[in-house]
Amino acid sequence: MEYFYELYTGLPRGGPGDNMSTRKAFSYMVDLPVKPLILDIGCGPGMQTIELAKLSRGSIIALDNYQPFLDELMNNAKREGFQKNIIPKLQSMHEMDFEEETFDVIWSEGALYFLGFKKGLDECHRLLKTDGYLAVTEGVYLKPNIPQAVVDFWEPEYPDIKDIKSNIELIEAADFELLSHFTLPESSWLDSFYDPMEKRIKLLKEKYKDNKTALKVFETAGHEIDVFKKYSDYFGYEFFVMKKNK
Ligand SMILES: C[S@@+](CC[C@H](N)C(=O)[O-])C[C@H]1O[C@@H](n2cnc3c(N)ncnc32)[C@H](O)[C@@H]1O
Repeated sequence: MEYFYELYTGLPRGGPGDNMSTRKAFSYMVDLPVKPLILDIGCGPGMQTIELAKLSRGSIIALDNYQPFLDELMNNAKREGFQKNIIPKLQSMHEMDFEEETFDVIWSEGALYFLGFKKGLDECHRLLKTDGYLAVTEGVYLKPNIPQAVVDFWEPEYPDIKDIKSNIELIEAADFELLSHFTLPESSWLDSFYDPMEKRIKLLKEKYKDNKTALKVFETAGHEIDVFKKYSDYFGYEFFVMKKNK
């Protein structure tokens, strides 16, 4: 994990995403209070947290289980003048201790899968106020007949990966109204995530050239990027925006 974290720390994002997609998802949340209370689960370095602070002018609890990401987020928030809107919280999403019906909005880009999509939906439903909104990105298969190389990569990482239709069925079964869904563009995998990661892999491979354990971590990450570049027609991240049913 040590080398994994060294690779990820310092990247602009912890997963695919971009501010334009964050803004698009937020645009469906039409009748929010003036200063909504928002929970960002698995916020990482928090590019989307800061964007949400700008969009909502509310308060955001930014939850992650890795303190260096929260530190990075708060440094960036200070630089942009939004530190007062963001409350960092070091806690596992498996142990969230909020009261029921606390939040106007729950947000989670590329992280709810750590709970599992179904369990994550149920947990968010419990924590949202009536009429609260949920926005989540989730890894999905975009086409049938997935090449074996993609299956071999995704299923050990995320055995629960499904197609968009199956995720929509889970959303409806969890008592949410789906307001919109859209696939993240390829640029949101590359610009703030894989392109800077490729640069870091190069540097770290040199730094740890005699360390087999570290090199294996960086090679696996490089393989992930190669799989994406070759097969991105078959899988992606889907943004799902929903509202809790009354
Ligand atoms: C793929 S990254 C996404 C980060 C950020 N949302 C983004 O889009 O840039 C997943 C994040 O979830 C966090 N995470 C993983 N397991 C967690 C857990 N059990 N509780 C809270 N956060 C967790 C990681 O530290 C990481 O920051």
